[in-house]
Amino acid sequence: VTLFRRARIYTPLDTGRPAAGPAQGRIESWDGGALLVRDGRIAAVGEESEVLGALGAADRRAVQEVDCGGRCMIPGFVDPHTHLCFVVPREREFLARIEGADYLSILRDGGGIHATVESVRASTEEDLYAATRDRALSALRLGTTTVEIKSGYGLSLDSELKQLRVIARVGRETPLSVVPTLLAAHAVPAEYSGRADAYVEHVAAVVIPRVAEEGLAAYCDVFCERGVFSVPHTERILLAARNAGLGCRLHADELDEGGGAALAGRLRVASADHLLAATDAGLRAMADGGVIAVLLPITAFTLRRPYARARAMVDLGLPVAIATDCNAGSACVESMGFAFGLAVLQMGLSVAETLTAVTLNAAYALGLGDTVGCLAPGRPADLLVLHGESPGILAFRAGVSVVDEVYKAGVRV
Ligand code: NIG
Ligand code: FE
Repeated sequence: VTLFRRARIYTPLDTGRPAAGPAQGRIESWDGGALLVRDGRIAAVGEESEVLGALGAADRRAVQEVDCGGRCMIPGFVDPHTHLCFVVPREREFLARIEGADYLSILRDGGGIHATVESVRASTEEDLYAATRDRALSALRLGTTTVEIKSGYGLSLDSELKQLRVIARVGRETPLSVVPTLLAAHAVPAEYSGRADAYVEHVAAVVIPRVAEEGLAAYCDVFCERGVFSVPHTERILLAARNAGLGCRLHADELDEGGGAALAGRLRVASADHLLAATDAGLRAMADGGVIAVLLPITAFTLRRPYARARAMVDLGLPVAIATDCNAGSACVESMGFAFGLAVLQMGLSVAETLTAVTLNAAYALGLGDTVGCLAPGRPADLLVLHGESPGILAFRAGVSVVDEVYKAGVRV
């Protein structure tokens, strides 16, 4: 039994569905808050006097106290979109882009994602695991307690399976909760060059059934983008995935408008991610389809593109979540705190809306909205103690980590 005292607690409230519109900014807070943990789960949370009332006689003998000294407590971050499973970041490509090279042209010329695919294919499972684990542990230190990790740097049956085994092992051997996503349709691999249709068929008919049979993925994702995978390709793959029992999500309208958001709405997928170039019609289709918008401000920042229209999305009634997109090329920062800062300072979201975006709505995007993402009785005690008085400190000091302490299921990690 652990009792956190003298905390300024801020948490979204779970109403049984993703927080949309005005609800996205509704946050509960207690200035003189306390939180009681029993067997790794939250037993009580609220004003200290009320929580003390919930302490039984047996609890009183066993209790360990943590004095938060007036610091802020929030739920652990849920990062619902990462590509953490790779060996080395493409630093030279970054320098070339700073000098003016274009992300999609590099990809078309066989660099970009293809360069990472070569190194992931060549690496042993053990080396890939070590690199992925280290990156995941860095995210954990920065406050992420639940993380989605995609494959997509293998692009062959064997290498995608290798990545997914590594991702599963990160879930078993680190304190993080990991949600695995199959992203075999991340690029058309070199051996299928000029034969995108054939690769899509291979993914739908061979890769998806095998991955589903081995239970290695919860979701399937597609990079739906002009010049990568078309809307019909994306639909073919996602329907095969759904048929195999996987959840569906997609990279939509990241660089150009290409009908991704509209498709997401029509297929009623769990989330459509990026959306830098999404149109109002696309966003409305998402709202109608109950799709969560997962925004990735670090990618816009790194690619020096205009940010997604987060304000318009919240006003349209779309539930918005925020993720890092941490990957080898377009954005290589595993810090949800930094994404938080960009959301507040560059995308016009309020601190309260952003807190919901990095916790509860992110959890809903992963199908975990009833499990993690808020501080409520019965949920695992995944929580952060921040070096500040409110979640606003994450934006105010976005360039450094203000995460003082990370607890996973009540245990300090
Ligand atoms: O979300 N856009 C596709 N996938 C990643 C980038 C992957 C990479 O550049 O290696 C993204 O931005
Ligand atoms: Fe991505």
